[in-house]
Amino acid sequence: MTNFAHRLIAWQQTHGRHDLPWQVGDPYAVWVSEIMLQQTQVQTVIPYYARFMARFPDLASLAAAPEDAVLALWSGLGYYARGRNLHATAKRIAASHSGLFPRDFAAIEALPGIGRSTAAAIAALAFGERRAILDGNVKRVFCRLFGIDGWPGEKAVADRLWRLAEALLPERDIAAYTQGIMDLGATLCRRSRPDCECCPFTDDCLAQRQGRVAELPTPRPRKALPEKSTAMLVLLHGGDILLEKRPSNGIWGGLWSFPECPPGSDPVGAARALGYVADLLDELPELDHCFSHFRLRIAPRRLAVARRPDSAEEPGRVWLPLADASQAALPTPVRKIIESLI
Ligand code: ADE
Repeated sequence: MTNFAHRLIAWQQTHGRHDLPWQVGDPYAVWVSEIMLQQTQVQTVIPYYARFMARFPDLASLAAAPEDAVLALWSGLGYYARGRNLHATAKRIAASHSGLFPRDFAAIEALPGIGRSTAAAIAALAFGERRAILDGNVKRVFCRLFGIDGWPGEKAVADRLWRLAEALLPERDIAAYTQGIMDLGATLCRRSRPDCECCPFTDDCLAQRQGRVAELPTPRPRKALPEKSTAMLVLLHGGDILLEKRPSNGIWGGLWSFPECPPGSDPVGAARALGYVADLLDELPELDHCFSHFRLRIAPRRLAVARRPDSAEEPGRVWLPLADASQAALPTPVRKIIESLI
C-alpha cells in the first residue's frame, strides 16, 4: 500500500465529516465526545452530547456538578461507569491540573476511563499530536485492508494492528488523518453492507480482492451470554412511585431503580420487608436487557402501597411523581417501565 495516509487525508477533506459538534478544537469537548463515542455510535451520541455540553459547557461546571446531575444526562446512553469516571476525572483535573485538561500524553492516558486509543484520539484531535488510534472502526479497516485474520481482541492480533497503526501515521495533518480513519470505518467500511464501491482503497484492499470482506474482522469466539432474572417492585402511592439508588459499584451503579426480589418470590412479602403494606395490582410485561456479559430478564410487579411510613424515608429512597421520576438518572428498562405507566 503506497501513500495510505496522504490518500486518506485527501478523502477526508472531500468526503469525511467536518461538522460534528465536538469538532471545535476544545480539549474538554473532544474528551467528553470521545468518552461518549466509546461503544456508542455518532448518531446516538449527538443529542446526548448537545444536552451535556449545554448543561456542563466546561470542565469547571462539570467538576462542580453533583454526580446525580451527570448521570441523569447519561441516562439511556449505557455503560454508566463512563459517566461516573468522566465526572470523577473532571473533579481530579480541577483539583490537580489547575483546572486545565492535561496536554501531556502520559497524563491523558493516566486519567480514569481513558485507554491508549482514546488518549491518542484526544492528543491527535485536540492537540495535533502524532499518535496512533485503534478503536473498533480502525481495527475493522485494517483487518480488511491488510487481510488480517484472527479476533482483534487477541493480543497477537492487537499487537500487529498497533504496529500497523503506528507505521501508517503521516508526518503532518494528524487531526485530519485521525478523523479520516474513523470516518472511513464508520461511513464506508461498515461492519455490515460496506460501501466498497465508494472506498478509495478498494483496489488495494486484500479482503476485497479475496472476497472476504464479510468475514473480516474475525468475530470474537462467542459464548452464549448467561441469563439472569429478577423481579422489580413498582411501588405506587397516590401518583408517586418509589425509586431506590443503586450502590455505586456493580451494574447501573449510582442510578435510580426499583427495589428487587427473586422472580419466584412473593412481591407483597418483599414490599413488607422494605416497610410497606402493599397490594399486588398486576404483573407488567417482562423486559429483556442485554449487558456486555449477561442478559437480564426483568419481571415488573405493580403494587399499590396503602400507607407510606410516617417517618422520613430511608436514605437512598425517594417517592416521586411519575413525570418527575421519568427525568431521573434511570437505567433504560426502568425508564421504559415508568413511561408505560404515564
Ligand atoms: N468515534 C470515536 N471518536 C470519533 C470521532 N471523533 N468522530 C467520529 N466518530 C468517532
